[in-house]
Amino acid sequence: MTDEHSKTPQRPWRNFYGRRHGKTLRDSQREYLSEDLAALSPGPVDFDANPERTPLDLDALFGGKPVWLEVGFGGGEHMVHMAALNPQVGIIGCEPFINGVAMLLGKIRAAGVENVAVHPGDVRDLFDVLPDGSISKAFLLYPDPWPKARHHRRRFVTPEHLDPLARVMKEGAEFRVATDIPDYVRQTLEEVPPAGFDLVAESGTAWDDWLSTRYEQKALREGRVPHYLTFRRTAAAPRG
Ligand SMILES: C[S@@+](CC[C@H](N)C(=O)[O-])C[C@H]1O[C@@H](n2cnc3c(N)ncnc32)[C@H](O)[C@@H]1O
Repeated sequence: MTDEHSKTPQRPWRNFYGRRHGKTLRDSQREYLSEDLAALSPGPVDFDANPERTPLDLDALFGGKPVWLEVGFGGGEHMVHMAALNPQVGIIGCEPFINGVAMLLGKIRAAGVENVAVHPGDVRDLFDVLPDGSISKAFLLYPDPWPKARHHRRRFVTPEHLDPLARVMKEGAEFRVATDIPDYVRQTLEEVPPAGFDLVAESGTAWDDWLSTRYEQKALREGRVPHYLTFRRTAAAPRG
């Protein structure tokens, strides 16, 4: 989006309905945030730091490795697990909830993984600056369910998120979605394919390399049933 008189993109208006802060951070978590977060930046993502919305240099970030993306990593357990299991890739995680970011940083220190980058904010800002066709795999694990019908348009599985996701994903790249909400499965099956993805699998059994997340553990304790959906980015040009 550019304004009439210059080529500088205008800051888009984006509502964010989630939480950015939770309970008071422990001293150790404050230390992780102040000491580790800046070095894990994927580059300038936010509007103030990158008003021109210049695409990130992912080759420089990860030395030319394939790049994966985890949207809303929560406490970061799945992201760190995948990074440790796949040293041949670089993983960018994004999460606006700062307590979750602090938890991730603790896990990164403990696991000693180096093939990770963190955007402590909204994935839509990250999409703006990811190059076309740059992401080889994406994870959307237990996205916010927004159960009320009038809030369904806030869900990730809407064109506002899926169109830029399709743009940044490589042709043939895998997109994994996990959810415990049957109506979220319905909306995912309705909305994801027209954005430029084929459904590959819908299952009650997790992927072979899965690590159960905090949110999934809570869902299981409360008697809800996980659904695992696998899509592949089609060859056709995405709609967005
Ligand atoms: C229900 S939690 C699940 C967290 C984690 N994936 C898990 O399975 O435990 C959904 C997460 O998505 C994050 N989220 C919501 N909107 C987001 C956005 N626009 N960009 C990135 N993350 C977002 C929330 O902050 C929250 O941590």
